[in-house]
Amino acid sequence: MSKRLYELGEDLRLGEVPEQMYASVIRPERYGRPADAFRTEVVDMPPVGRGQVVVRMMAAGVNYNNVWAALGEPVDVIAARRHAGDTEDFHIGGSEGSGVVWAVGEGVRQVRAGDHVVLSGCRWDESAPDIRAGADPMTSSTQRVWGYEESWGAFAQFAVVDEYQCHPKPERLTWEEAACYLLAGATAYRQLLGWQPHVVKPGDPVLIWGGAGGLGTMAIQIVKAYGGVPVAVVSSPERADYCMRLGAKGVINRREFSHWGRLPDIGDTAATAAWLKEVRRFGKKIWEILGEKRAPKIVLEHSGQDTIPTSMYLCDTAGMVVICGGTTGFHADVDLRYLWMRQKRLQGSHFANFAQCRAITELVSAGLVEPCLSWTGNFDDLGKAHQMMYDNTHAMGSMAVLVNAPRPNMTSIDVA
Ligand SMILES: NC(=O)c1ccc[n+]([C@@H]2O[C@H](COP(=O)([O-])OP(=O)(O)OC[C@H]3O[C@@H](n4cnc5c(N)ncnc54)[C@H](OP(=O)(O)O)[C@@H]3O)[C@@H](O)[C@H]2O)c1
Repeated sequence: MSKRLYELGEDLRLGEVPEQMYASVIRPERYGRPADAFRTEVVDMPPVGRGQVVVRMMAAGVNYNNVWAALGEPVDVIAARRHAGDTEDFHIGGSEGSGVVWAVGEGVRQVRAGDHVVLSGCRWDESAPDIRAGADPMTSSTQRVWGYEESWGAFAQFAVVDEYQCHPKPERLTWEEAACYLLAGATAYRQLLGWQPHVVKPGDPVLIWGGAGGLGTMAIQIVKAYGGVPVAVVSSPERADYCMRLGAKGVINRREFSHWGRLPDIGDTAATAAWLKEVRRFGKKIWEILGEKRAPKIVLEHSGQDTIPTSMYLCDTAGMVVICGGTTGFHADVDLRYLWMRQKRLQGSHFANFAQCRAITELVSAGLVEPCLSWTGNFDDLGKAHQMMYDNTHAMGSMAVLVNAPRPNMTSIDVA
């Protein structure tokens, strides 16, 4: 018999969509510590539009964007949506996950009820004028991050997504492994292979910040798969070992250096000399790892303010620093002399288009890239998981929570 609400993991008939569901909800009055911001609530199911499908979520991946959503800064995502005309006063996050297509809306052609899928984290209007004129959908004025800029994300019993967000789940992976590779993997793929002519080529050294993190673990493996030479930066010996096991040529511990943050003022010669001494010492570490005096052709950036001066200085002549985030801050200094004299490129990059999501999914299906899942939590652990990420005390690689999937050997870590 049909019910209004089912428990997480409870059996229900394929195609049946209840009126209500469980979701992990952020509300403005709880903005602040991620550990306190998320709370499991019962909400009404959202409507299903043309070209959309309902996915019964099995697991969801944890990413940094919902640390920002929980903090309520730098963007108050709920206020921003209400300003744009939405009526909901809450946010359901989650920009990736795995599940079963449970029901399909009008006009859906590429997926069917019963398909096992992984979900990508950006939406756009396929009929938008810029996309029809040939723009990459990621540059469309209609593009939004699902589960961050848009609500009704993966941290829910059911998700309503656009058909093109569905990609075939790599069969060899568990639900939780499948839930956690696409966001970081496709983002790193676009950074490393999406910006011609600055794409990874055999023998190219690539410097990767946060090598043991979500983006970093994906980047090390992608660079390796394309014949490049990954050099990772981390903050502990354990993280260094992890990167080496993933295929890094060598690892640098950033704690051994002190020149982080914004550049000294141009006129401050003593501070500038001290900064240059330190950044050159860092650069020598790269030469030691490579066994020759070569600079990185590509620097994969996401740490931002603390590291951009170093990235821009060390990047090869005519090379590229490609950035998709600013974990340590958004006001990054660039000494323009190195930018123009050495003809370097500073390229912004944001998630990935459909083809790039498919490409990383094929690499994962083929076993050339592993999802690097190292922590799996319960649905109610979402606040803890995001708190660990905020505190940079989380496990290496990626994290996932189980939604409707059965609960195997779980590790759940308490956060004070
Ligand atoms: N635009 C997009 O589409 C997109 C997609 C994915 C992620 N992002 C952004 O990219 C950033 C990283 O995401 P992630 O999933 O990789 O997060 P993550 O798993 O937490 O990894 C980030 C890594 O950054 C390193 N880090 C922390 N503080 C640092 C500092 N002061 N200097 C240098 N490195 C530092 C840490 O490694 P160590 O402490 O070991 O150095 C950490 O492992 C986030 O800001 C996220 O929002 C953007």
